[in-house]
Amino acid sequence: MRIIKRFLMKSLAKLSRRPKVKVSLERLEGFVVDIGAGGEGVIAKACGMETVCVDIRKGEIGEAKSRGAVAQWVLCDACSMPFKNGSFDVATFFFSLMYIRPLERKRAVIVEAKRVLKLDGLLYFWDAIIAEKPDLHVVFVEANLPDGEKIFTGYGVRGDGKEQTLELVSKLALEAGFKVVSTESHKNWFTACLH
Ligand SMILES: C[S@@+](CC[C@H](N)C(=O)[O-])C[C@H]1O[C@@H](n2cnc3c(N)ncnc32)[C@H](O)[C@@H]1O
Repeated sequence: MRIIKRFLMKSLAKLSRRPKVKVSLERLEGFVVDIGAGGEGVIAKACGMETVCVDIRKGEIGEAKSRGAVAQWVLCDACSMPFKNGSFDVATFFFSLMYIRPLERKRAVIVEAKRVLKLDGLLYFWDAIIAEKPDLHVVFVEANLPDGEKIFTGYGVRGDGKEQTLELVSKLALEAGFKVVSTESHKNWFTACLH
């Protein structure tokens, strides 16, 4: 079933004119919390079963588990996570900030990420650059995992208030007390590391 889905996603990505993303993931060091982790559970697959994976939707957690994402799954709103201050070495958003709307919730979730990170903790984003129009924005992603596995998937959002840029996300992160370590901006997506 997974092979069929991967084949379909790969074919769709080739046929579609929608944004395509190719990302290679390293295994991140330390205790990782992945925010908005459900669906595929890409970071869990890249970083291993110690990863704490947070999602607000039970169905998305179930989907990731059924796709083999073994992790410590936590059902909660990432704007208010049930973890003590300074619990994690790394926090990640893998194409999940695009789903967290409106702007005030993006702000709140980044502030919350700062709270649960250790003082020298790292925050990583991989996410879509999205314009307000058209109504539906879909991004096709090929994620290459450290063990050689490739995941082909698509993420989509629609409606108002979906605009998202690297500049906006960096601004929110700086306001939350982060400093930029590195950023990489592509045509349709970006990655950023902050501490
Ligand atoms: C489609 S997934 C993103 C991709 C995912 N990281 C992966 O590896 O496939 C976006 C997820 O963010 C979750 N989400 C949206 N708002 C959230 C919030 N406030 N707190 C936690 N999870 C949230 C959604 O339920 C959804 O599962």
